[in-house]
Amino acid sequence: MAQERLDKMLASRGAGSRKKVGQLIRAGRVTVNGQPCRDSARKVSPEQDAVCVMGVPLRTRKERYFMLNKPAGVISATEDVEQKTVLELFPESERAGLAPVGRLDKDTLGLLLVTDDGALNHALTSPRHHVDKRYRALVSGTLADDAAEQFQRGIELRDGTKCLPADLTVLEQQADGCLVVEVVLHEGKYHQVKRMIAALGGHVERLERLSMGPLVLDPALEQGTYRELTEAEIETLFVVCKG
Ligand code: URA
Repeated sequence: MAQERLDKMLASRGAGSRKKVGQLIRAGRVTVNGQPCRDSARKVSPEQDAVCVMGVPLRTRKERYFMLNKPAGVISATEDVEQKTVLELFPESERAGLAPVGRLDKDTLGLLLVTDDGALNHALTSPRHHVDKRYRALVSGTLADDAAEQFQRGIELRDGTKCLPADLTVLEQQADGCLVVEVVLHEGKYHQVKRMIAALGGHVERLERLSMGPLVLDPALEQGTYRELTEAEIETLFVVCKG
């Protein structure tokens, strides 16, 4: 049975940063098989040892859930013969079974959930659950004064596709005339933000996803890097899917 260091195992399962976990261990707040363990380097098996943090049993999940801050230039796919995929941002040893939850365009940045939990992936991408997605976009060109109202009514794309009502907030106008806007979608169509903005006469120069349902992009996560979701974040996703 695979064993790992106690502090590493706790940190990777959402008990806190390595520093925080080390403090908890030194303070005797972590027990292994009922006994306080003050040794961060102690080898434990998540499957065989009962580990509790402040009396709360650590959940042992087999599935993995990662928050990736997607950079531009990689595609949201598991494999591709020509283009670099988001999975290639993970070490090869980590990749087996992982898949992105939904898609971001190649040039879109920001929050992408990557997991090997196929059931959760399916549930989160199903139209049945309507997981809201929030984006920040840099827009060139001019938007109509009533752009926000048009978003609220439901934009008709240039090919005639009708979109559900969505939210648009203009955050600022830059010195070069570009607008910084925030868009919240309640559905997911191909290139949706770009096509909605285009339908109003604007052009998306840069697009970043900030949140997906309750999951918010960690501002400490640099582009191209990822971290495991905390237990609390995982729980919130399951709550969405139960709804
Ligand atoms: N809308 C877009 O236009 N592109 C994305 O990547 C996501 C939403």
